[in-house]
Amino acid sequence: MAGITSRRKADELIATGRVRVNGKVVREPGFKAVWGKDKIHVDDREVPGPEGRAYIMLNKPFGYICAMSDPLGRPLVTDLLDNVKERVYPVGRLDFDTMGLLLFTNDGEWAYRLTHPRFSVPRTYKATVADYMEDTALEMLRSGVRIPGAVRAKGKVTLLSRDNRQTVIRLTITQGVSRQVRKMVEVVGYRVIHLIRTGFGTIELGDLKVGEYRYLETEEVNKMKKLVGMR
Ligand code: URA
Repeated sequence: MAGITSRRKADELIATGRVRVNGKVVREPGFKAVWGKDKIHVDDREVPGPEGRAYIMLNKPFGYICAMSDPLGRPLVTDLLDNVKERVYPVGRLDFDTMGLLLFTNDGEWAYRLTHPRFSVPRTYKATVADYMEDTALEMLRSGVRIPGAVRAKGKVTLLSRDNRQTVIRLTITQGVSRQVRKMVEVVGYRVIHLIRTGFGTIELGDLKVGEYRYLETEEVNKMKKLVGMR
């Protein structure tokens, strides 16, 4: 019912020790757990509760962190989902100082596939960079640069505008290394001063206002599922 696997395969998952209830591995087939109350994990993924699947997009403002809690007490992205009853969490992360498209869900499989490097889901950013970026630097981003935490980072780059003060580029990457866009731009000798994510997979930020969210249409969710090979 949670859409994880078939009944028969679920028995196998349990027998092979891949299922945890409230943190403890459970191998007995007859063990009783209360769905929606007990915390059930398959491998490291939490099984969503019976509340139904929720898929949400937010236009993240500057100054919010992508975490479920913060020891420093900074505003959390989930604070912005004021009328959402489901327990959703962010799909991947955007930096405190990055704005734009952020997805939320309680569908572990969807979130897992969208963020796993194996599925190479494209993410598109509009980056404002200080100074006039030389063509050679743009070429380097296209052909690939070495950044800490990634083998080789490259992207599709479109020059949107450029003058002596700043350069605006559109950059599409298919990895999700922490602070990847900022690091890539740094490696080629420049500094990002403003960053917005405008696209993730088949979803575009569109005209959603900063700080606002909406539930995705079934068609939008299904398109993304298709992109990452889900039924
Ligand atoms: N790349 C970055 O540098 N920051 C983000 O928030 C996302 C991608």
